Amino acid sequence: MIQIREACEYDAKRFAKMQLEIDGETDYMLYGAGERAITPKDARKRIEYFADLPYSLILVAEDMDTDELIGFLIADGNPPNRMQHSVYIAVGVLKAHWGQGVATQLFKKMEEWAKARGVVRRMELGVVCENQNALHLYQKLGYEIEGIHRDSFMINEDYHDTYWMSKLI
Ligand SMILES: CC(C)(COP(=O)(O)OP(=O)(O)OC[C@H]1O[C@@H](n2cnc3c(N)ncnc32)[C@H](O)[C@@H]1OP(=O)(O)O)[C@@H](O)C(=O)NCCC(=O)NCCS
Repeated sequence: MIQIREACEYDAKRFAKMQLEIDGETDYMLYGAGERAITPKDARKRIEYFADLPYSLILVAEDMDTDELIGFLIADGNPPNRMQHSVYIAVGVLKAHWGQGVATQLFKKMEEWAKARGVVRRMELGVVCENQNALHLYQKLGYEIEGIHRDSFMINEDYHDTYWMSKLI
């Protein structure tokens, strides 16, 4: 069974491990394989920092059978009043669990949080144009392409365009 919930400080070690694993499994996250080191201390600091912010959220997907964290979603909001209604989303799921609805559940929970906050109007994200899995997921969830950021991403020395997408609630 998969549980979707807000990250807590006790997740720090498993959260760091999962993020580094996901970095190594795909070319479509911000950091490449082995490019960054995240210690459990770093992860705990970040989780605690986000937990104190009313406009941001870290969700995790936990496999209750194995006690493993298998996915995350970060909704990163903005402090200024003029941007409080907007959150930027980043999401990742371990490859072994792709295509099983984990990301869909993470988005559903995030949207519940966004609606409950009352002030969130806009959810936005960027995705490498070739990242078909993610693109299908976002379009299925109602995110629309607003434009293209040309050559905004570099994978193995090649430039890639990214779509900028958003959903209004
Ligand atoms: C993109 C990603 C988050 C999707 O997570 P997921 O848990 O596999 O997604 P879901 O199972 O909820 O899939 C929902 C939809 O996404 C699409 N999708 C997901 N996996 C797919 C696959 N392997 N092939 C084709 N489409 C796929 C489908 O449209 C699917 O809809 P369906 O259930 O009707 O088939 C995951 O593949 C991932 O972490 N990839 C690497 C990191 C990444 O690309 N992050 C996003 C950066 S913008």
